[in-house]
Amino acid sequence: MSDERVRIVEVGPRDGLQNEPGRVPATIKIELIERLADCGLPCVEATSFVSPKWVPQLADAEEVFRGIRQREGVRYPVLVPNEAGYRRARECGAEEIAIFAAASEAFSRKNINAGIAESLERFRPVMEQARADGVAVRGYVSTVLGCPYQGEVPVAEVVRVAAALHAMGCYEISLGDTIGAGTPRQARQMLEAVAAEVPMQALAAHFHDTRGQALANLYACLEAGVRVVDASVGGLGGCPYAPGASGNVATEDVVYMLEGCGLDSGVDLSALIETARWISGRLDREVGSRVGRAGSFD
Ligand code: HMG
Ligand code: MG
Repeated sequence: MSDERVRIVEVGPRDGLQNEPGRVPATIKIELIERLADCGLPCVEATSFVSPKWVPQLADAEEVFRGIRQREGVRYPVLVPNEAGYRRARECGAEEIAIFAAASEAFSRKNINAGIAESLERFRPVMEQARADGVAVRGYVSTVLGCPYQGEVPVAEVVRVAAALHAMGCYEISLGDTIGAGTPRQARQMLEAVAAEVPMQALAAHFHDTRGQALANLYACLEAGVRVVDASVGGLGGCPYAPGASGNVATEDVVYMLEGCGLDSGVDLSALIETARWISGRLDREVGSRVGRAGSFD
């Protein structure tokens, strides 16, 4: 495991901010997205076109998406829960979307007001439209290592939902430990079970750090062959429908670890640390990452 490329999908502006209690101005969100792209991140998930009643913090999705000065070669996917969200995203010019399902029935109902089967049906017309429009679609599976409502989630359900999203045409499936419940061996086993049905190159690891396991889980998954990692600058975040969920693994912690392992992400670590400190300051809090607080070590 060295001399290889790892692609980081930066989810801070979406997953990181969606649960933020105080309203963050659109200008700050736009600046955050632009700074992240300037750090060399190849993909910055920008916002969500979900119901503003469900996620008020991202009610400004149009303003934010339209306001971004897009950098050549960088992708800016947005979350879309249904056809209404797809229309809104396309009207602003989004060229890549992400749909999101769950491996837990209970979480699916709380998060998108539909069971798993119904949610997959709801995504079908979105996928068809996206295919017709040439829009790339990423798929998420939440609660892959545990659910806040249901507890344990059978691996077979994770495999089933991931395979269904892939069969529907998602080019990549991001496996989300929404509440940071997993530990490394379990994470690796889950990933390997999914990789038996969906090619490893089409899988991404999405770990929340609620119980301090995210970097360890990620390392276990890197050893098993995953090469796409979701992360959030400054460790921002949490899911509004997952009580107690804390931020994603911090992007700067991931980049530091990857560099130490000889894995290249193309990200400028110093600029990223700067950005983590900047956004934490704007949100009036301490940087939520170890590397962000300590700085890099050269
Ligand atoms: P619903 O209430 O069942 O929807 O919500 P509905 O179709 O009955 O519509 C109700 C109202 O919402 C209507 O307005 C619609 O027009 C409106 P009204 O007539 O009452 O004025 N509406 C919309 N408005 C704007 N944009 C839309 C939209 N859709 C309907 N797209 C719905 C169903 C799916 C919309 C809702 O449950 C929802 O938006 N959920 C999103 C929740 C969410 O964003 N969760 C966080 C993201 S997932 C996550 O964080 C996990 C992840 O990070 C991976 C991991 O960590 O595991 C991805
Ligand atoms: Mg998440």
